[in-house]
Amino acid sequence: MFKSSTAAIPDTRPVPRHIAIIMDGNGRWATKRLLPRVAGHVKGVEAVRGVVEHCVERGVEYLTLFAFSSENWRRPAEEVSLLMKLFVTALEREVSKMHANNIRLKVVGDLSRFDPKLQEMINAAERRTANNSRLTVTVCANYGGRWDIMQATSKMVAANPGVTEYAEELLAPHLAMAYAPEPDLFIRTGGEERISNFLLWQLAYSELYFTKTFWPDFTKASLDEAIASYHDRERRFGQTGEQVAQKTQS
Ligand code: IPE
Ligand code: IPE
Ligand code: MG
Repeated sequence: MFKSSTAAIPDTRPVPRHIAIIMDGNGRWATKRLLPRVAGHVKGVEAVRGVVEHCVERGVEYLTLFAFSSENWRRPAEEVSLLMKLFVTALEREVSKMHANNIRLKVVGDLSRFDPKLQEMINAAERRTANNSRLTVTVCANYGGRWDIMQATSKMVAANPGVTEYAEELLAPHLAMAYAPEPDLFIRTGGEERISNFLLWQLAYSELYFTKTFWPDFTKASLDEAIASYHDRERRFGQTGEQVAQKTQS
């Protein structure tokens, strides 16, 4: 179990251990080119491939990608159905490659709403890559930060009968991504500067990076720019700048 950033000051490194990305702007990328929105989603999958490769090259240990939010069901049925199909094809095409590259795949979110066949594919891919250790790629699908906190709360209450006051440490093990440290760096592409119900709990002390680049145009060089920006930040976790400077000297 990883300590939470509010319970203990985490170790920080020049390259983020955990990067979490809201991959936004696929639709606008396509519309700008007079293409259907789904063309942007297709191109977006290619961008994922490049970013996964580059995370391996840069030594990032956890990459978390927001693929479908609990609110994305509000989109036109046709777009939702195309996104589901794309998810299936991406799993079919990419899992073997990920496995060959020692990458572990996790999918988190309320998967019960997905087609049973898709659920089975997800389970099989997770089982197959479970022991891989180079990089953990987490795809957040039908994920919502509030859903995560509520499902963890229900499990915490069930696991602690008779308890009436709960500490943070009791909740953390039940969060969907309890297997990972909290994100060091949060990236949102596409120009919007909001969290859109992504990892609400886990982003408490993450460094936030927003770029206008649409997700399909997000390259390895774009990722390097985000990492360089992270590198220049002073992460204080509530301390003063002087305290942080003293610690890096000693
Ligand atoms: C992000 O791109 C992908 C998903 C939400 C599935 P969008 O589809 O939100 O693209 P824009 O924001 O409309 O450009
Ligand atoms: C967030 O993007 C969800 C994903 C990237 C999967 P949205 O495009 O759905 O967010 P809003 O609606 O602009 O806040
Ligand atoms: Mg969007």
